Amino acid sequence: MGAQKCERATHLPTTIIICLIFTTILQLGLVNSVIPPPPPPPQPPLFACDSANPHTKSYPFCNPQLPINKRVKDLVSRLTLDEKISQLTNSAPPIPRLGVPAYEWWSESLHGVSRHGRGYRFNGTFAKDGSVLNGTATVKAATMFPQIILTASSFDSQLWYRIAKAIATEARAMYNVGQGKGLTFWAPNINIFRDPRWGRGQETPGEDPLLTSTYGVSYVRGLQGYTFHGDKISDRLQASACCKHFTAHDLDNWHGITRFTFDAEVSKQDLADTFQPPFQSCVEQGHASSIMCAYNRVNGIPSCAHQDFLTDTARGKWHFDGYIVSDCNAVPIIYEPQKYAKTPEDAVAAVLSAGMDLECGPYTQTYTKSAINQKKVTEKQIDRALKNSFSVRMRLGLFDGDPRINGSFGKIGPEQVCSEEHQNLALEAAQNSIVLLKNNNNLLPLSKSKTNSTLAVIGPNADSLEVLLGNYEGFPCKSTTILQALQSYVEMGTIKYHSGCNAVECSSVEVEQVVEIAKEVDYVVMVMGLDQTQEREKLDRVDLVLPGMQQSLIASVAEAAKKPIVLVLLCGGPVDVSLSRDDNKVGSILWAGYPGEAGGLALAKIIFGDHNPGGKLPITWYPQDFTEVPMTDMRMRPNKSSGYPGRTYRFYQGKKVYEFGYGLSYSNYSYKFTSVTRDKFSLNQEFTSVSRDKISLNQESDVNQFLVSQLGTQFCDKQKFSAVVRVKNTGKIAGKHPVLLFVRTDLQNDETPMKQLIGFESVNLNAEQESEVEFSVSPCEHLSKANKDGEMVIDNGVYFLVVGEEAYQINVAA
Ligand SMILES: *[C@@H]1O[C@H](CO)[C@@H](O)[C@H](O)[C@H]1NC(C)=O
Ligand SMILES: *[C@@H]1O[C@H](CO)[C@@H](O)[C@H](O)[C@H]1NC(C)=O
Ligand SMILES: *[C@@H]1O[C@H](CO)[C@@H](O)[C@H](O)[C@H]1NC(C)=O
Ligand SMILES: *[C@@H]1O[C@H](CO)[C@@H](O)[C@H](O)[C@H]1NC(C)=O
Ligand SMILES: *[C@@H]1O[C@H](CO)[C@@H](O)[C@H](O)[C@H]1NC(C)=O
Ligand SMILES: *[C@@H]1O[C@H](CO)[C@@H](O)[C@H](O)[C@H]1NC(C)=O
Repeated sequence: MGAQKCERATHLPTTIIICLIFTTILQLGLVNSVIPPPPPPPQPPLFACDSANPHTKSYPFCNPQLPINKRVKDLVSRLTLDEKISQLTNSAPPIPRLGVPAYEWWSESLHGVSRHGRGYRFNGTFAKDGSVLNGTATVKAATMFPQIILTASSFDSQLWYRIAKAIATEARAMYNVGQGKGLTFWAPNINIFRDPRWGRGQETPGEDPLLTSTYGVSYVRGLQGYTFHGDKISDRLQASACCKHFTAHDLDNWHGITRFTFDAEVSKQDLADTFQPPFQSCVEQGHASSIMCAYNRVNGIPSCAHQDFLTDTARGKWHFDGYIVSDCNAVPIIYEPQKYAKTPEDAVAAVLSAGMDLECGPYTQTYTKSAINQKKVTEKQIDRALKNSFSVRMRLGLFDGDPRINGSFGKIGPEQVCSEEHQNLALEAAQNSIVLLKNNNNLLPLSKSKTNSTLAVIGPNADSLEVLLGNYEGFPCKSTTILQALQSYVEMGTIKYHSGCNAVECSSVEVEQVVEIAKEVDYVVMVMGLDQTQEREKLDRVDLVLPGMQQSLIASVAEAAKKPIVLVLLCGGPVDVSLSRDDNKVGSILWAGYPGEAGGLALAKIIFGDHNPGGKLPITWYPQDFTEVPMTDMRMRPNKSSGYPGRTYRFYQGKKVYEFGYGLSYSNYSYKFTSVTRDKFSLNQEFTSVSRDKISLNQESDVNQFLVSQLGTQFCDKQKFSAVVRVKNTGKIAGKHPVLLFVRTDLQNDETPMKQLIGFESVNLNAEQESEVEFSVSPCEHLSKANKDGEMVIDNGVYFLVVGEEAYQINVAA
């Protein structure tokens, strides 16, 4: 800068002399400490704060000894307004003058490093300018774990954590070899799977708030490089996780109503005890470094313009300290088609003032400058946004010099992608999650012995690699179709295969051929269900039955077969298979979600008894007549007087095809409560710190309601007790078994959950082995529900802790 000023001043003779002297001193390096560094090279850098660059070395934002808030403040203070605006979008351009490289914020990693998003390439490396150098990729595939709805069925938080950790390792390895240009991943999806028709329900851990919260926390901790219990291992994030989509977002396109315009009418009550808890735990316990705001409106306000959600709740109440990103192109829709904003500038102003920090999409590039000129946006708001986003880049270690040399994750190499360990984990995840729904007369497992038995495999999902992966997939390390995996168990030539349907939509079937095959063989395995043509992003289902002629094909085959058949269902959302459930000629039913790259093998192992299934459904399987309920009706709670049935196992009282938590195994398990340290509570007596008149009386049911917030943390902590359950494997083979602890009440009203999951733990038990599982029960947390104002309350009354058929009574007196 000094040298430039001298050049401009050459018309003044005296200045020339001073400048000459000054320049000479500079060249001699005599006053090193006061001399500004030379201009940086114009080339975009590969990484920030290169220690070989004397220029950037001196900037406080490059000093790893300083706290990140100081570094970020320094960096943002150096940016021009145009540079600032340029950084508000997902594809952030470089700022070569400060040695800051380009950065791509949008990467996906739902169940493995994904080929979707902009940040990762399996077919090339990224050049400095962000273009892809085709054919230069070292890593051509990554481990594809099961789709989340299946992994959830393991009810095993350690497993979820280990998967996320493996994904983070593979992501860093790809980043280190130049195949990633960002380390911010937009996963997990922790929206409640409220309606069985939702096309993206497959991406979620299901319908229960505790299950979803626990999944989210485990995933975030694993991906970001924390310990299972949430402690930091490194002072840098291994990768950044993003909890999406904030909030009450669970409709894509149902009968033409789309996520872009849908206005979700959500009660304070449902928000408080259904939709928000996963996000709260993701922030408070997972310490997620990002939240994504959703497309839809909630009670009239677009999620990304929702100051109450983004700023008051997430940052204020939950102390969120990462960046808030919009879903892709969620900003323009606030103007058109939502018409919430009157001009594009108003849309940009609405999101920036509400607390959104980064846009996925280019709209802010076009309209922020004019919004500032119109005084709708202040530079201060942009500074806040950039501080939040840049601080995550810094927490990832991307301003500490070459991230492949400096920091904890630079040594992770490509040999760690698709490692044997990760592929075994993908198999473990699939086989421990698959759910056995029916097994009449212990038809399964089939005998492995190489007898003369012949097997037919029938169905449109039997020989497809694609269907195993679900959505947001990457390229799998290796995968085996279900047909190929079953083939490896049977003597050559003894499997007869037919797809049965033209495709998964099954608009035409070849009944005669298939029935002929079924008649000839000893055993039939049918592999039916859905795929991404039936349920996906931007496509919700309108029916719950199997597509096209699948059900009639199953019936015909079952009728013709010598023995009851085995039905395997691949699908994310539930299907109404009550006809097969009730058909004695269908002996066994297995649900395998979309089981990932090792899913074929996992199914074959289960079918032939090399693995004992233990998964349990993370969602209610509703009958077809549930489709009479509009998907747009967000209410969780039933309304008996209007005939609205309510949603999920917590509130829905109608007929079910299969229940949440249901799942068989090749063993049986028995339970017994062996020790419960408390069974009586008297809220009023022990409730010394709160005056009696603040307790609201529920007039209808003559029940006292105690506000949890008034009971206070100290009181609540003191009420915690322990419940120990003895679990015994009474069967003949070993198994991994999730123990689910629910609470149930006697209160009969529409507002109170009939049942609520309050804890789960997975145990490995040999035949005849028993073990004890201890749960910590907190009355304030576990016996409470939200009232109409969205406050957590406890009713006095009789409660039961429930495991399987065992119940233990807990009395809560007023
Ligand atoms: C590289 O992969 C991406 C998806 O990851 C794809 O969109 C692109 O077309 C591929 N390019 C080539 C040259 O194959
Ligand atoms: C790589 O392939 C893509 C897609 O085919 C193409 O658009 C791009 O120009 C290629 N890049 C190079 C450097 O060849
Ligand atoms: C990065 O590592 C290099 C080589 O070990 C070292 O010289 C440099 O000081 C480090 N940079 C930072 C910012 O820690
Ligand atoms: C296989 O079938 C043949 C002919 O039907 C029979 O003789 C033989 O005993 C069978 N083998 C076994 C192991 O069942
Ligand atoms: C339940 O439905 C009835 C009849 O439509 C209606 O009057 C009442 O307000 C509803 N209750 C709730 C809590 O929505
Ligand atoms: C488990 O117990 C039920 C009921 O007693 C019985 O019908 C079933 O066969 C048992 N299953 C196994 C695998 O032992």
